[in-house]
Amino acid sequence: EAIEKGGYDHFMMKEIMEQPRSVADCLRGRVIADQMHVKLGGIRHKMKDLMNANRIIIAACGTSWHAGLVAEYIIEEFTRIPVEVEYASEFRYRNPIIREDDVLIAISQSGETADTLAAIELAKSKGATILGVCNVVGSSIARSSDEGAYTHAGPEIGVASTKAFTAQLTVLTTMALMIAKEKQTLPEETLHKLLVDLESIPEKIAEALKCEEEIKKISEMYKDAQNFLYLGRGYNFPVALEGALKLKEISYIHAEGYPAAEMKHGPIALIDEEMPVAFIATKDSSYEKIVSNIQEVKARKGKVIAIVTKGDTLIPSMVDHAIEVPDVHEALMPMVSVIPLQLLSYYIAVLRGCDVDQPRNLAKSVTVE
Ligand code: G6P
Repeated sequence: EAIEKGGYDHFMMKEIMEQPRSVADCLRGRVIADQMHVKLGGIRHKMKDLMNANRIIIAACGTSWHAGLVAEYIIEEFTRIPVEVEYASEFRYRNPIIREDDVLIAISQSGETADTLAAIELAKSKGATILGVCNVVGSSIARSSDEGAYTHAGPEIGVASTKAFTAQLTVLTTMALMIAKEKQTLPEETLHKLLVDLESIPEKIAEALKCEEEIKKISEMYKDAQNFLYLGRGYNFPVALEGALKLKEISYIHAEGYPAAEMKHGPIALIDEEMPVAFIATKDSSYEKIVSNIQEVKARKGKVIAIVTKGDTLIPSMVDHAIEVPDVHEALMPMVSVIPLQLLSYYIAVLRGCDVDQPRNLAKSVTVE
């Protein structure tokens, strides 16, 4: 097992560190910016259905559902196809409206999640096209889909999903850009810039991983916290949800993720000097708005840890701790901004003596409903 962990103490850490490579593996042959090449080989016959979809429904659970939320923003922005993201467990039991010209995308690391599989069967019975985005080759979800794309992240052993998430985002972004190219919903220049940025994600993740030592120090300071709040806006809102999920899964600290602007409708009541708040506050179209959300937390003496874009000086001057990540197009930022949050949950859990690879009560793959 020590060999399998590749010299790390835990699979989770190995998998976090593997991400520059797993994302590169996921992009290989699919994206070549200079040739304007963007193609998922697994989606051929159903490409027309995808391009002409009345609506895309994304069904998933857990971390895969968070990847789906990011994909909703990306697909709608770049292709103008309406997208709905559903918890597979809710979707299957609520008599949803599904048309033959809808496309259901099922996202699943294991490809075995019972609720996601049931969502597929339901959509199939209504005549929708099914696309699978799975990590495990030959898994049940991959086999039940009409077509799909593998994430090629390699086996993920740690129960808390890390490299599967960034690989899912890679595939879903590639899919959105593939549709945008075919449908010509983006100016050529914008598409090229996005493809260049997408190709650079492995090195951007490698750069983001350099915050490890800083994160270790911050983890020491907050390891005894009772609660944590994670806030983000736009593309970084699902990252806030994912950061909170990672922390609660493996450290057992209660954590909530929220869209930053919704804070004033509830969570703000919890803020005092005991409450650490992680802001995912990179420079994007909601930057100014998140600056004022940070001010609202600081005015109530909350402790703020902010994930910021490299070179930003304003937010670092306002907060207790600022962690820099390299700049990328805002739609691709979740693949980079999630990295410090994965490390934060890992180190806090280790310092609390938790079994990070096998947290209590959780299973890697939930094959019962
Ligand atoms: C379990 C795992 C999570 C995972 C979720 C969905 O809860 O512990 O890490 O995100 O299932 O799994 P899937 O394999 O469908 O992505």
